[in-house]
Amino acid sequence: MKPEKIREDFPIFDERPELAYLDNAATSQKPESVIDAVENFYRENNSNIGRGLYELANDATQAYKDARSKVAGFINADSDEVIFVRNTTEAENLLASSLDFEGGIVLSKMAHHSEQLPWRRKADEEDKNIEYLGTENGKISIKSAKDKIDEDTGLVAISHISNVFGAENPVEEIIEIAHDNDALVVLDAAQSAPHRPLDVKDIDADFVAFSGHKMLGPSGTGVLYGKKELLQDMRPYQVGGGMINSVEHDEVKYADAPERFEAGTPNVAGAVGLAAAVEYLEDIGMENVSAHSKKLAEKMIGGLEEIEGIDVISPEGANLVSFTCEYAHPHDVAEVLNQHGVAVRAGHHCAQPQMVELDVNGATRASPYIYNTEEDVEKFLESVREASEIFNAT
Ligand code: ALA
Repeated sequence: MKPEKIREDFPIFDERPELAYLDNAATSQKPESVIDAVENFYRENNSNIGRGLYELANDATQAYKDARSKVAGFINADSDEVIFVRNTTEAENLLASSLDFEGGIVLSKMAHHSEQLPWRRKADEEDKNIEYLGTENGKISIKSAKDKIDEDTGLVAISHISNVFGAENPVEEIIEIAHDNDALVVLDAAQSAPHRPLDVKDIDADFVAFSGHKMLGPSGTGVLYGKKELLQDMRPYQVGGGMINSVEHDEVKYADAPERFEAGTPNVAGAVGLAAAVEYLEDIGMENVSAHSKKLAEKMIGGLEEIEGIDVISPEGANLVSFTCEYAHPHDVAEVLNQHGVAVRAGHHCAQPQMVELDVNGATRASPYIYNTEEDVEKFLESVREASEIFNAT
């Protein structure tokens, strides 16, 4: 992989050549091919879908269908198991609102708020018990999964890769424990789908949620995958146009999945852009993407460990690095980095319970992606060194 070459495909770096963009866990930059796909859709193919009978409407409908099958192929799902949503948050909310099940809910302490809150609210509203899986060295503890998941569990919601630690959780083992107890599993793949091959059949989660905008796709795109037989039994999240077979005064027949869960005019241009993003990633190869992020994160972790006052939170093998500085608040560290053109995220990362657990007021996080170079890493480490010196002296 040649990140310097890849960088040339991303117009933002023409505008900001000095930018070391290391906030990819929040959102990724977009290559020319994705920007073109969205623009060309509006220039050449724009129409509503599934409604008009004219050629342009048929072309737009076909483009949306093609986008769905491209994204389905990326995760080894069938097309009708892929629901287009706005982001991971919407995927989790859709599911929590539409899925009926008996039994309690098991979450992890490291879960992003987008995963925690929809299920916590469901537990409140339906008087369900909640248990939390603990964290051990930046990963969900298998011991706690064995302790907490039992025959009273109805659903287990886990992150594939935490947005705080960046390490891959032992999800296959946890899914097996859940299924042995007849519990359903929803996998938050927001941080894994952009970074590693994801095969939903192989991993065997019942539902998988991820965002398109973190994997080169346009903002406002995301996916909820669900096993066909489960989606068919679920109540629609929203009702309206485009999701019915028939509406009579006394009876409504809903369409099958995925249309049943996509009421209203969808983000057609976004889906087309997401398909272009998938194509771009497939051309690089997800194994290469994964190896590159991990290699840069490893260098960052190694470099940070040499800097006085810095504590690294992420474990070895992570694809991003979160850290604290004993002399400064994470926001202050991020501001020094910003002054050097290094973009990182700082704060609680929408995972406040995990921060409480770590006993920190937040963390600074650098998350690399395919266009980041060794030079970006050097610049990042140099800036952190400077931040540590400044705040140590004050
Ligand atoms: N979930 C995104 C992050 O971790 C926004 O930054």
